Amino acid sequence: MKFTFVTLFSNLIEGYFQDSILKRAIDKNLLEIEYLNPRDFSENKHSKVDDTAVGGGAGMVMNPQPLYDSLKELQKADEDVHIIFLTPVAKPFRQNDAKRLAKKEHIAFVSGRYEGIDERVIEEFADEVFSIGDYILTGGELASLVICDAVSRNIEGVLGNSGSLEVESFETPLLEAPSFSKPQEYENNSVPSEYLKGNHSNIRSIKLALSECKTKFFRPEQLLKHRTRKSYEK
Ligand code: ADE
Repeated sequence: MKFTFVTLFSNLIEGYFQDSILKRAIDKNLLEIEYLNPRDFSENKHSKVDDTAVGGGAGMVMNPQPLYDSLKELQKADEDVHIIFLTPVAKPFRQNDAKRLAKKEHIAFVSGRYEGIDERVIEEFADEVFSIGDYILTGGELASLVICDAVSRNIEGVLGNSGSLEVESFETPLLEAPSFSKPQEYENNSVPSEYLKGNHSNIRSIKLALSECKTKFFRPEQLLKHRTRKSYEK
């Protein structure tokens, strides 16, 4: 899978691929990362890429020309590239999007800065537009990294243990049960005793009960979804 980050600030992104799982995936040729800077395409003599908003409003908006030309260039090199824009004004990104997008061969993330991107560029080029949550970041770079990370771990071979994909939170409406590592006793706190007894059917039921507790506390609407689904299965 190839990821192209269309950004004015590739430095903000590069470090993330220099260690751990995604670095290993790059070393194994499972991932390829590329950067495209709209400033390099600016026709302005000072390489300007933004301007005040037409119609008023605070802040600067990214001009269409540098982005338009960078994305045309990208499409010329690969007409199948799947172009995703990051903005808070979009559908929320979810785990099922991560799984679906992991089947693509080439994804480009377009990050806005300042007050946003001229809407005509989004209209012209977006295959999809995502928000990663109901809050405003200083730009789309973090959002693009979040999505890239979530997609990458669903690509075959990226995670050492693909079993870890199966029991995760959001694969079902229930949040995942809590995990514990060694030692069994730490600072006078023990891991749940059932986890230690080796009876896998008991461990499964206690994990389910703990999952339900966590979901009820943190995401009650998800518990409702789980119960509705279970009643359909009966
Ligand atoms: N850019 C700024 N805020 C964002 C958000 N919440 N999601 C995606 N892109 C953004």
